[in-house]
Amino acid sequence: MKTPFRRLEEHLSKNHSTSFQAALFMLKLNNMLALKGQRSTERSDSVESDLLLWWEDFYVPVFEYILPKMGTLEKKKVLELGTGTGGTATLLAKRGASVIGIDLLSFRLAEAKARASEHDVAESVNFALMDAMHLAFPDNTFDFIISKSVLVFTEHAQTAKECYRVLKPGGKAIFIENMRYHPIAWLYRKMFLKYSAKLRYFSIHDVEKVGAEFESLEHREFHLSAVGALFWQKCLVIPSLYRTSFRLLKTIDISLLKCFPFLKRLCWITAVICHKN
Ligand SMILES: C[S@@+](CC[C@H](N)C(=O)[O-])C[C@H]1O[C@@H](n2cnc3c(N)ncnc32)[C@H](O)[C@@H]1O
Repeated sequence: MKTPFRRLEEHLSKNHSTSFQAALFMLKLNNMLALKGQRSTERSDSVESDLLLWWEDFYVPVFEYILPKMGTLEKKKVLELGTGTGGTATLLAKRGASVIGIDLLSFRLAEAKARASEHDVAESVNFALMDAMHLAFPDNTFDFIISKSVLVFTEHAQTAKECYRVLKPGGKAIFIENMRYHPIAWLYRKMFLKYSAKLRYFSIHDVEKVGAEFESLEHREFHLSAVGALFWQKCLVIPSLYRTSFRLLKTIDISLLKCFPFLKRLCWITAVICHKN
């Protein structure tokens, strides 16, 4: 007997849209990670890491970087592109923002709604089925737009143009995306992730092209050698070694990137902050 997931997979596979196929691939990957019960081992005073949902340890420093850039979120209108199961939308709503999360997959939005209710922020979050490349909002609507691992599924410039249009003057669009040339990530995608060939991972040039749609841009890249710590989490499971090596390598990465900025292009994650004047 087919499971509901299997039926959904078949339905989406018949649809030839690349976005849908790619979204399906990420769905499989997310489910796989959830089944492995991967949970954050890093604790942060300023970020609720459990709401980062996957690869939390690696996203905590990214959120520690972007949240202060957003300042106080009280009464701010935020759009989250590709909200998935709503972790980021919930995190921002808990900080006082009024959030709209959009996604292409309706059943993901149902999970996102449930998550917002669990965290008592259902009244501050709305979800809608919508394509990030064709936003159904008027010009100048949002104070912030945020996305995490979503632009890689879209045509970057088209999405950036739409974001610019719906941002208020003075607003910021924050894109947290996976980069193309991290050697371990590159090899892993080549070997195991069939759909990754269709995704538009970011190079530094892509970051700059997205930024060119706005008046100004700042960006920071994260995790070079720190990815190696995953050996102690995924291959030989020794949690204490994972924690120790992750902290050590993270510190080494910060110094390496400061001394040799050209290494940014080999990082795993980029956080791109685009400003509209
Ligand atoms: C890798 S998941 C990330 C989910 C969420 N941002 C997170 O970090 O947990 C990518 C999400 O983007 C959605 N997505 C892909 N293409 C999209 C598009 N063109 N418009 C809106 N959502 C899209 C997928 O359905 C999926 O939920």
